[in-house]
Amino acid sequence: MSDRIQAGFAVKYEHQVHFTRGVFRRDNPLLAGVLASGKAARPPRVLLVLDEQLANAQPGLFSAIQHYFAGREGQFDLAPERLLIPGGEAAKNDETSVEGLYAAIERNGLCRHGYVIAIGGGALLDVAGFAAATAHRGIRHIRMPSTVLGQNDAGVGVKNGVNRFGKKNFLGTFAPPFAVINDFELLATLPEREKRGGYIEAVKVALIRDREFFERIERSRDALRAFDPTAMEDLIRRCAEAHVRHIANGGDPFELGSARPLDFGHWAAHKLEQLSGFRIQHGEAVAIGIALDVAYSVLAGHLDAVEAERVIALIESLGFALWAEELDLRNADGEPAVVAGLEEFREHLGGALTITLLKGIGQGFEVNSMDTAKIRQALEQLSARALKA
Ligand SMILES: NC(=O)c1ccc[n+]([C@@H]2O[C@H](COP(=O)([O-])OP(=O)(O)OC[C@H]3O[C@@H](n4cnc5c(N)ncnc54)[C@H](O)[C@@H]3O)[C@@H](O)[C@H]2O)c1
Ligand SMILES: [Zn+2]
Repeated sequence: MSDRIQAGFAVKYEHQVHFTRGVFRRDNPLLAGVLASGKAARPPRVLLVLDEQLANAQPGLFSAIQHYFAGREGQFDLAPERLLIPGGEAAKNDETSVEGLYAAIERNGLCRHGYVIAIGGGALLDVAGFAAATAHRGIRHIRMPSTVLGQNDAGVGVKNGVNRFGKKNFLGTFAPPFAVINDFELLATLPEREKRGGYIEAVKVALIRDREFFERIERSRDALRAFDPTAMEDLIRRCAEAHVRHIANGGDPFELGSARPLDFGHWAAHKLEQLSGFRIQHGEAVAIGIALDVAYSVLAGHLDAVEAERVIALIESLGFALWAEELDLRNADGEPAVVAGLEEFREHLGGALTITLLKGIGQGFEVNSMDTAKIRQALEQLSARALKA
């Protein structure tokens, strides 16, 4: 004998990503409108979490925020305390970052109708998003990415995560933020290395989905290499849009299946970041990971060599190095150490190994295995190319 009660239910999310300039200029109504749209019964408490490097680079930021809220007294209740967390991957590796956030959320009495506003790079947003998603089982969270990668990729999605056991994003949740606000002016102080790092996620999206976007990036490569703001904004907007459309229309916003097309080039990248002790930044590692999977796609007979050369040339012309000494590291059995990234990638996702490769520019497709001998060959090609350069 058995019995059961079953009930299906659906939860609807509205994922809003806004683009603006000068979000904290007093006459900019965007943030106030977003906060007010939460229709809290009383003025909601707002806790600010700032990326420390951003706060140092833009010393006027906090006082601008205070003025913004001072002009809206009675509507919102800005917590007098602001939290500064050192940005970068260290924030995700350091267990005390999340603890510090929980303590601040508790100390400042935030409830589920309160807001954590996090302003910073993708790493800081991941930490703040995780803390906000788990404190009280979920506090409203507004992300304001201050890096190119944050604005076009890391910050516009619905997940968060912190690193544990030396593994990226071992802890995390799928928790759509209340809103994402991309303020292009926040990027003004970003070092060039970080700006460039974000470009590769746009190249990635273009490669798997959108040939026309790839060609657009090709046409603006010189402007991008010179960090021209207009070219950067165009790239960010289009890439962010592709991400949001993928989440909304891709059929698997919370990644319950095995496929993760937007992680093209990432199986090797995550491993490489880890092998380098995070000396190599995410975007830099992704550039190498993409080059590797492009070379592999040719060796496996999926991609035309001329198309592959065009891809690799674009990535190089944006200023990325396509080799790192960590690619020479070997396991005890003599295999390139980076190959372990495949199994770690599968384990993180669950299910069958699913890797995106290329059939052409704008045409990603999935495979369920990779041949280690061909990976080694692809690595040799990258190494030879780097030596020649
Ligand atoms: N949650 C997701 O869906 C998702 C997706 C992709 C990537 N990520 C994560 O995002 C992280 C990478 O993010 P990132 O590329 O933004 O790098 P980052 O967060 O490491 O920031 C790079 C550096 O720039 C500093 N910084 C940030 N904004 C600045 C500014 N405007 N001026 C001066 N300095 C500034 C930061 O303090 C940091 O030192 C990785 O941890 C990656 O795993 C998350
Ligand atoms: Zn990425």
